[in-house]
Amino acid sequence: MYPIARSLLFRLDPETTHGMALNALDALHKVGGIKRVYGEPVSDPVELMGLRFPNRVGLAAGLDKNADHLDALGELGFGFVEVGTVTPKAQPGNPKPRLFRLAGHEAIINRFGFNNKGVEHLVAQVKKRHYNGIVGINIGKNLTTSVEHALDDYLACLNAVHGAADYIAVNISSPNTPGLRTLQFGEQLDALLGPIRAQSRKLDAQAGRNVPLLVKIAPDMSEEEVALVAGSIARNELDGVIATNTTVSREAVSDDPQAQEAGGLSGKPVFEASNTVIRLLRSHLPTLPIIGVGGIDSGEAAKTKIAAGADLVQLYSGLIYQGPALVRQCANALKQGN
Ligand SMILES: Cc1cc2nc3c(=O)[nH]c(=O)nc-3n(C[C@H](O)[C@H](O)[C@H](O)COP(=O)(O)O)c2cc1C
Repeated sequence: MYPIARSLLFRLDPETTHGMALNALDALHKVGGIKRVYGEPVSDPVELMGLRFPNRVGLAAGLDKNADHLDALGELGFGFVEVGTVTPKAQPGNPKPRLFRLAGHEAIINRFGFNNKGVEHLVAQVKKRHYNGIVGINIGKNLTTSVEHALDDYLACLNAVHGAADYIAVNISSPNTPGLRTLQFGEQLDALLGPIRAQSRKLDAQAGRNVPLLVKIAPDMSEEEVALVAGSIARNELDGVIATNTTVSREAVSDDPQAQEAGGLSGKPVFEASNTVIRLLRSHLPTLPIIGVGGIDSGEAAKTKIAAGADLVQLYSGLIYQGPALVRQCANALKQGN
């Protein structure tokens, strides 16, 4: 069924399709249709970071930036859903067009630029959810906040989301907010992660509950850079890492007429690059929880991510190209004993 829907949807402007698909999913959810079509989620519980994930397959950040579709998306069978990236204040993001399909490569380029309704809206949405999987909240900074003051925005988001999140992901790897990715390197990373970790510990103590703190990193790093990031993750005692975000490289898609659109490239072409980062992280940090994301388009690809060193996986672009059946396909492939 999905290939037919896809061939119709792919004739429309990508961002319009995106909104239509989410609204259709909400409508189907309201009449109980998602479970009828896709069945019960795969049960394959995993304990990680003090949380119990119903299965190992999650939705990556960026599809549900405001947690407006959490219940419907959760019903597709995800063990966890990461909402956001959210910023302290609402912001419109970059001018359209800002989403491009490179269908020949099963890839996407986006330069949304953290369009979102602000952290207060997201927290209210998360609090009223019925979805009973794990909910991660991915936090960022407003475009109007300078990189020098980025910490203020991350702390404002952390304070706002701590009571609602099962885990919190610090996003310093989007290519669409100028300067953001510089926070991943050198002393800047410790200067950011140190105070965020300290504040999250304070909030944990006040709440009597540990909310795991993770950082999400880019695939565009040398071996030395991954080693430095790993060092900072260890020093600041983060609970885990999400690897990876989209790439700024266009090497794998240079023949595509849209290859030169600015933004982050995701989907199949980022698969190997993100696996390399995961392998390196795993070699530096043998016990660190790793969420592997980038280019998963089949159960086999999900298994490869785990073999590279990930504990859990996330999907985004694969969902657009393969359809919602991919969630169960991956969860079944990863189910222990399979
Ligand atoms: C349209 C689009 C929007 C995205 N927005 C975000 C975002 O807001 N925050 C974030 O951390 N990652 C964002 N991502 C990156 C994904 O979460 C994921 O890390 C990346 O796409 C690689 O996975 P994939 O190949 O399965 O898509 C976005 C990706 C896409 C395609």
